Amino acid sequence: MWSSSAVARNIAVLLTISYNSLLQLARGSAVVKSGVSNYSFPDDFIFGVGTSAFQTEGGWNEGGKGESMWDTFLHEHPTFTVDHSNGDVAADSYHHYMEDIELIKKLGVQSYRMSISWPRILPNGTDNNINQEGVKYYRRILEELVKANITPVVTLFHWDMPTPFMNLGGWTNAKVIDYFEDYARVAFNLYGDLVKMWLTLNEPHESCLSGYGNTGLVPALNSHGLGIYLCIHNSLLAHARVYRMYEKEFKPDQKGKVSIVLESVWTEPKDPNKQEDVEAAENYLQMHLGIFAHPIFSEEGNYPRVVREKVNNMSRLQGYSRSRLPYFTDEEVTALRGSADFYALNHYTSVSVSPSAMEFYWKVPSYYHDTGVRMEGDPFWARPGAIWQFLYPPGFRKLLNWLQNNYKILKEIAIIVAENGFIDFGGIEDYDRVDFYNDYLYQLLLAIHEDGCNVKGYFAWSLMDDIEWRDGYTHKFGLYSVDFNSPNRTRTPKLSSYNYANIVRTRRIDFDYIKRPEDLNTTALKGL
Ligand SMILES: *[C@@H]1O[C@H](CO)[C@@H](O)[C@H](O)[C@H]1NC(C)=O
Ligand SMILES: *[C@@H]1O[C@H](CO)[C@@H](O)[C@H](O)[C@H]1NC(C)=O
Ligand SMILES: *[C@@H]1O[C@H](CO)[C@@H](O)[C@H](O)[C@H]1NC(C)=O
Ligand SMILES: *[C@@H]1O[C@H](CO)[C@@H](O)[C@H](O)[C@H]1NC(C)=O
Ligand SMILES: *[C@@H]1O[C@H](CO)[C@@H](O)[C@H](O)[C@H]1NC(C)=O
Repeated sequence: MWSSSAVARNIAVLLTISYNSLLQLARGSAVVKSGVSNYSFPDDFIFGVGTSAFQTEGGWNEGGKGESMWDTFLHEHPTFTVDHSNGDVAADSYHHYMEDIELIKKLGVQSYRMSISWPRILPNGTDNNINQEGVKYYRRILEELVKANITPVVTLFHWDMPTPFMNLGGWTNAKVIDYFEDYARVAFNLYGDLVKMWLTLNEPHESCLSGYGNTGLVPALNSHGLGIYLCIHNSLLAHARVYRMYEKEFKPDQKGKVSIVLESVWTEPKDPNKQEDVEAAENYLQMHLGIFAHPIFSEEGNYPRVVREKVNNMSRLQGYSRSRLPYFTDEEVTALRGSADFYALNHYTSVSVSPSAMEFYWKVPSYYHDTGVRMEGDPFWARPGAIWQFLYPPGFRKLLNWLQNNYKILKEIAIIVAENGFIDFGGIEDYDRVDFYNDYLYQLLLAIHEDGCNVKGYFAWSLMDDIEWRDGYTHKFGLYSVDFNSPNRTRTPKLSSYNYANIVRTRRIDFDYIKRPEDLNTTALKGL
């Protein structure tokens, strides 16, 4: 999840103080839905729930695990997280994974998305040293899942790069791609009998923008003009390398599917009647999503033309003799094109956009400055949780349609929503999260049934509260709460977990299943 990303905080800065009164207005005018959705999720539609290793596992130095860059960085910079916390214990899934599997079973979902910690199985990052205890840890989890008829979907890189590679520049160093390929091969050999859906990298846009082009995530390189594009370029190449390696060495036997997780906001033109705002909305999507999706999913491949032109033009104006956005060779364009067996989309929020040559928080050169788009929250979108998450459920439907309209291949390969969820500050009675899932999943039903979008799966983020990157333990995404003050890290179901289980069970949305106290008459929380 992208949590308090750079984008998010910048949007927050732009908000006006009159926001709260506008919010009341927005809520007052919101359509209150009740009843059961007329549409249902098709029989072959997969429901799931997700987590990532660093955010939940803990056990940072147990069982022969090496350090990830998040372990090392948070130990060296204890004030990096807002609550000065780290991921040493997190939700302690390293010890409580059997309990977690019980929670997954209770939800009734068909699938579980998790990630492998690269340094847990390769403590030094390299394949000369395979940690058998780490190997067994994931094997046990995967076997338990398969036994319970829960399909594992496994992310290879969910941001926890082995520290030795961070010290060599992380994804700015193209040589790291070789070692990522070696790691992926080890994982395919170890677990390919059990895992048939693999995800190479999680949200490279977010990790490159905030981790390399900024200081929002580790390694906080703040290389805003250059590092971010090297990271983007090498992340894409790393994905293609692993996809082609699997295709050649494993797919004939293992018959699995491989993709990459791309997150995106939806962009609404600030004034839909202004052509330049409409263009800004399209351009921002190309700079955020197209920069990754076009090389992989479009017919012609390579970076989108507008992205290439924007960075080239700005680089030239700034006196560079080469573009800050590297070029692919013809072989690389070919390797990337079609390197996905499904489209894995993460979505959390929408932004309202208009063109801008400069904003006070932009650095020069930088990705934002190259992009030339001012982002704001729309005051009519509710924002009941974190400062950055604007709730605009129709944006989700529009984003799915945008993908379907831009990439013809999505008629043949399916879209899987790999993450979607609501961020708040805790509490078991999470009515806002219940509403979030009802409203966003309803838009998904409309996208499937009324627009013909080829969406075949949905993973709620997240199974449980975790370390939310830089936000530490102050922000929560879980369907289950975790008591981070208890040595047992006790898990407790939130209302949203019952609601989600009901959607999974009935394959419809019952807007009355969980009612807010003010909407209750006599019987509370029926069926719980
Ligand atoms: C179901 O369909 C009816 C008739 O079109 C409509 O009025 C109602 O709002 C729909 N309900 C839901 C929850 O989709
Ligand atoms: C490999 O990692 C282990 C555990 O972190 C460390 O003790 C050891 O020094 C590393 N070896 C090399 C060659 O880097
Ligand atoms: C880049 O510069 C060229 C030449 O000045 C111009 O025609 C083109 O519109 C510019 N592209 C973008 C996306 O700004
Ligand atoms: C933790 O779990 C153990 C074993 O189930 C139990 O005995 C103990 O009381 C629990 N401690 C807390 C603080 O919940
Ligand atoms: C509450 O429930 C009772 C009994 O079912 C019913 O008579 C009454 O009209 C309800 N009140 C409201 C405000 O819906």
